[in-house]
Amino acid sequence: MSSDIDELRRELDIVDVVSDYIHLERAGTNFKANCPFHPDRTPSFYVSPSRQIFKCFGCGVGGDAIKFVSLYENISYVEAAKQLARRYGIKLRIKEDSGEKGKIHELLEKVAEFYHSKLRENREALDYLRGRGIEGSTIRKFMLGFAPQSRELVELLKKEGGLEIYEKTGNITRVDEDRFRDLFRGRLVIPIRDQRGRFVGFGGRLLKGEGPKYINSPESEVFKKRELLFGLYEGLSYLRDLRSAVLVEGYFDVISLHQEGFRNAVATLGTSFGKEHAQVLSKFVERVYLLFDGDEAGRKAMRLATPHLLSAGVEVYPVFLPEGMDPHDFVIKEGKKALRSIIESSLDVFELLIERVKKGEKVEEAIRDFTYFASFMKDEIRSFTLISELSKLTKIPLEVLSSKVYRKREAVPEEEENRLSFTERIFLKGLFELRPEVDLDQLNLSHRARELAERILREEYYEVPEDILNLKTTDLEEEFGAALERLRIDIPKEELEAAGLRESVREIIRSHRGGIKPSALKRWRGGS
Ligand code: GTP
Ligand code: MN
Repeated sequence: MSSDIDELRRELDIVDVVSDYIHLERAGTNFKANCPFHPDRTPSFYVSPSRQIFKCFGCGVGGDAIKFVSLYENISYVEAAKQLARRYGIKLRIKEDSGEKGKIHELLEKVAEFYHSKLRENREALDYLRGRGIEGSTIRKFMLGFAPQSRELVELLKKEGGLEIYEKTGNITRVDEDRFRDLFRGRLVIPIRDQRGRFVGFGGRLLKGEGPKYINSPESEVFKKRELLFGLYEGLSYLRDLRSAVLVEGYFDVISLHQEGFRNAVATLGTSFGKEHAQVLSKFVERVYLLFDGDEAGRKAMRLATPHLLSAGVEVYPVFLPEGMDPHDFVIKEGKKALRSIIESSLDVFELLIERVKKGEKVEEAIRDFTYFASFMKDEIRSFTLISELSKLTKIPLEVLSSKVYRKREAVPEEEENRLSFTERIFLKGLFELRPEVDLDQLNLSHRARELAERILREEYYEVPEDILNLKTTDLEEEFGAALERLRIDIPKEELEAAGLRESVREIIRSHRGGIKPSALKRWRGGS
């Protein structure tokens, strides 16, 4: 890689960078924290400002500031460098080797074939798939695989002369001189292809033992989760013919739906469905069926995806499955006829809400949802017509309904978005996921965080940044609690720091949560 990255590294301060993500405490000349990369009760994670590196004595990870961001955000090293350069306003030019991308696709394909061949030798993984009703032809169509210990893979990559290049994708990491770790080892592997059929990355499902259920390839030049949809390449001709897609949440939903004849099923790669996904789909289809779980999470997913699809000019048909069942369970248990019939009898989102109003089911919520969704219609005349219809039906004056229409904000520059502190990001993520009762007035939030919090409470997820929706945490409840604790203190952290308050005084402030104003702090400072 270029010397530009070396320069960037010199400009960055690792303590600054890491503090943006986790709370660091001073430990002599170094800083320490609970390690964000493994469950850690005692702080085993250290940052050294003099050497500009971090190291965890618990799980062994370590490296420079760029490496920290790449691990934390699950993006490649180069991607992390670009992000940091943007965040700190540092110029960075990375020379792209145009032939390199092609080589990466080629290597990824070879690796996919390797994993696929290893699946045949692995009884356990095969039994697992059989147990879930996945047939041999489906295994072949999706080229499902199994990742063994990395030695063989490394041999293969060396033979192909692509070990260094492959390493850049982050699918394999060098632990030391000649030792590598395959991100997917011991997992069932699902290869992911882009729209044109090029191999771009993998999803790996845990079969046994501890760890996250899924691990995906890190974000990189070839693996862009914001645009990629699993199943799109495999189902493209069906999407085009049917002019519709069935959007589901998981890899296994796509795989089993394709197997049962719903070959227009697609899913995001575990991230939230966003604007780019909607734009991609709008090129092929006019209508999207949202096939989500019939629970709270499904409702959330629908409120996230619908505005983006409507803005892209796509009609939305929510389909509700029985509570606690996902599309995979449903099609395997109830069969394809049952699924076909609920899909075919589904209503367009506006018709659905009108039906609710007519039936007197949660009327206020339906009206609110209707105006919210209507404000995203690409065709404004259609949007106005819909609201007029609702007004006639409900006898609510048109002016009243129009005033409820969602107003989109002016686009905010990316640097601005990044100003949210780590604590605020955790807080917003927790608010979104856990739906706790909180009084925003009790919290010390920046203007932007407050605005986002209000939107989340109104279930208007449209402008909540993806990096919050997709933020990774090890124990959200605990981290949310800690964030709340920090935000409740009415005094900004910097002020506390500047005041040089002793820990005991901080305790007093904590125990008076929310009750102490900065002015009181000033008095204290004056007195000490
Ligand atoms: P099964 O549980 O095997 O049926 O898989 P699924 O594909 O149906 O997954 P699930 O419905 O639990 O989750 C939906 C999607 O979210 C998955 O397909 C993944 O893309 C993603 N996902 C789930 N768990 C994790 C995780 O632990 N880490 C990451 N990065 N993604 C996950
Ligand atoms: Mn599932």
